[in-house]
Amino acid sequence: MKELYVADVAAFKEQPRKVVAEGELEIGVFKLGEDYFAWENDCPHMGGPVCQGKLYKRVEEKLDADQKSQGFAWVQEDDHVVCPWHGFEFNLRTGRHPGDFPTSLKGYKTKVKDGKVYVLVG
Ligand code: FES
Repeated sequence: MKELYVADVAAFKEQPRKVVAEGELEIGVFKLGEDYFAWENDCPHMGGPVCQGKLYKRVEEKLDADQKSQGFAWVQEDDHVVCPWHGFEFNLRTGRHPGDFPTSLKGYKTKVKDGKVYVLVG
């Protein structure tokens, strides 16, 4: 297992996303709270650069007892990335598509050592 250097911990304060490459492999690393999550930059739909998509909170529709919409709200604890090619959306903690659970990103373990963030590949 190889440790691929991503960036210093301090660099994630300015920008919580980094995309690194190792040969043909591209990996997006995201800092969420105190944790780091790494996903292959290869959308399971058609191979788009999913990790470079827009970042959003999950949107939830609030319903009343009669199932009538009361509007939409952001779910603050659910960070999502939206693939820039066709809009498939993935939870950045689980890698899963919110409506199609078998569809998910390929994940990698991360490691923080001496103030530096690494992804474990190979
Ligand atoms: S390639 Fe990502 S949504 Fe189609």
